[in-house]
Amino acid sequence: SAPKTPEYKLVPHRDFYLISGIHSPEEIDQIQKWEIRDTDIFIITYPKSGTIWLQQIVSMIEVRGNVTATLDQLNAIRIPWMEMNVGEEFANAPSPRLRVTHLHYKFIPLGLKQKRGKVIYVARNPKDIMVSYFHFHIYANMLETPKDFNSFFERFMEGKVFGNCWFEHIKAWYSHRQEMNFLYITYEDLIQDLSAAVDRICVFLERDLTAQEKENVVKHSTFQNMRKNPTANYQAMPSHFNHDKGHFMRKGMVGDWKNYFTVAQNERFDQAFQEKMRDLPLTFVWEI
Ligand code: A3P
Repeated sequence: SAPKTPEYKLVPHRDFYLISGIHSPEEIDQIQKWEIRDTDIFIITYPKSGTIWLQQIVSMIEVRGNVTATLDQLNAIRIPWMEMNVGEEFANAPSPRLRVTHLHYKFIPLGLKQKRGKVIYVARNPKDIMVSYFHFHIYANMLETPKDFNSFFERFMEGKVFGNCWFEHIKAWYSHRQEMNFLYITYEDLIQDLSAAVDRICVFLERDLTAQEKENVVKHSTFQNMRKNPTANYQAMPSHFNHDKGHFMRKGMVGDWKNYFTVAQNERFDQAFQEKMRDLPLTFVWEI
């Protein structure tokens, strides 16, 4: 099918796709040299793993649960994209600097490997990621609409999407976790016990919130409340998305892949998972 906006396309750069018209390879190559402060916080995800969820939670923690302090600022302003943010802006920003990225491990600021700053890696079971990403391709203007789920399945398996191969992304970040101040948390952890997940994040970030403040963070980070909150869900950012064709806050559940995968696709996926994740001690919740 024809691209919606032909000026956007996936262009490989150091074996990682960038979106032309959005990402600049020159800027991205500068990121490694960014000077990192101990107070910097990075949220790292493969697309569709709950990025905006963490943007909401972490920015709500930073204002100690006071939602009115966030309502005049889009999540992408509260926690901007590393790959769209020029280095100068980052260098001059006041602490604590919060950033989010889908980039592969190989592009990261080297200071993170000296245990400066903090990294929160959010993972999600990749079958649900695939389904969420399929829908995202339909309404995100910068991505080409897939012909159908089957064709998207093949593209995802080949890693021909922004974020590239899911297996490579998680493997690279996770296997280097000991170099960094690193919190690994999953979408399914958040689904199963949001309050406990917020606690873990507060401890990791060394933010001492009262029980009431934490309760407010949780309340404003639920699926229902984020769906209604245009500054949390990209509704207030019309340029990149066709909101008639979908919603960032689509289903918010574990196991929707069962409505899409054929038995054969599921077997193929499981086999690939077993082979490629052999060396990683990670398990996922596939359904609840
Ligand atoms: P679905 O498409 O499966 O609904 P990302 O921000 O990385 O693009 O991830 C988006 C996915 O996270 C969407 O998944 C979205 O519904 C889900 N999500 C975001 N906030 C959520 C929340 N508060 N509760 C449950 N799911 C959430």
